[in-house]
Amino acid sequence: MAHIKRIGVLTGGGDAPGLNAVIRAVVKSACNLGVEVLGIEDSFDGLIEPGRTRVLGPKDVTGILRIGGTILGTTNRGNPFAYPLSTREGKVDYSARVVENFHKFGLDALVVIGGDGTLSIAHRLSKEGIPIVGVPKTIDNDIVGTVSCFGFDTAVSFATDAIDRLHTTAEAHHRVMLVEVMGRYAGWIALYAGVAGGADVILIPEIPFDLDLVAARLRERDKFGARFSIVVVAEGAVPVGGKVSIVAEGNAATAERLGGLSATCARQLEALTGKEARYVVLGHLQRGGTPTSHDRTLATRLGGKAVDCLLRGEFDVMVASQPPDIVTVPLDAVVGKQKRVPPDSDLIRTARAMGITFGDGIAAGC
Ligand code: F6P
Repeated sequence: MAHIKRIGVLTGGGDAPGLNAVIRAVVKSACNLGVEVLGIEDSFDGLIEPGRTRVLGPKDVTGILRIGGTILGTTNRGNPFAYPLSTREGKVDYSARVVENFHKFGLDALVVIGGDGTLSIAHRLSKEGIPIVGVPKTIDNDIVGTVSCFGFDTAVSFATDAIDRLHTTAEAHHRVMLVEVMGRYAGWIALYAGVAGGADVILIPEIPFDLDLVAARLRERDKFGARFSIVVVAEGAVPVGGKVSIVAEGNAATAERLGGLSATCARQLEALTGKEARYVVLGHLQRGGTPTSHDRTLATRLGGKAVDCLLRGEFDVMVASQPPDIVTVPLDAVVGKQKRVPPDSDLIRTARAMGITFGDGIAAGC
């Protein structure tokens, strides 16, 4: 047993439904074992500046299980190793201050809830001597070592509902309706929502697409008597030999922002098929709202396991879902990697068997 009396908890990166459920699980399970919890605001920023922490007891987390966002706030711009402050010397390295404040705040260990960027910072801080357990978070579901991340199921459910609704106009007006979903460089959201929503075409980053082949499929559907089509476009999908579509360049402190692909595809598909094509970008709606029961349960299990690890003295690890268990994986085996959709996976093969095309010319049914 490690001597743990006071732990900190923080959330980093983009928000995802279920963050509050993890915070609640950490606070409740720690407090029930007599461990005090300090909530750290706005990711690692709360360890750089004083006055951005607060003690959290069970009363402070009552009622937050079903609420989206994070009561602690978050940022995806606050890497303490390369803080985005413009000085003549470039970025400022605040990591020593983070370590100093960690001790000044009387902390024995940290629970860090975040995606790959945040977990990479956690791993580096572990090497600086801070006992840390990471909790994987992302709607994109692209973290290696865990079968699923909380937030993913909520995002997929929302996108599926959006596709269901778009079917109405698509059918009534005999249109091609494109729906652009998030997911960065992985097609998990597009694939799961596309299959669940009965899409006709799914474009994902892992399978480069050819719009001529997509157009051919849409014409085929017309001939077959289905005069509408639903195309799900992952924001990170790429045409054969082309590049990812971005709306803002990245830099050392922020990642590039993806977007714009569905608009381009709608224009081109209209020209290629002569059919009216419209697009909808779901954007941050996928990250908002109340987490599904699946995400609440997963988040609660991960939060509880994180506290269990800290108390047992297992550090520099990420808690992970490997059904039916919640296990631990060394952070070293996780960070800097990406879990992408295997193009020959069962779900892709099933989707193809359903007649869904991925724009790569591999035969579809009707
Ligand atoms: O990683 C989660 C995610 O929502 C991605 O799907 C998306 O590309 C990105 O974050 C958007 O980030 P931001 O909210 O910073 O624009």
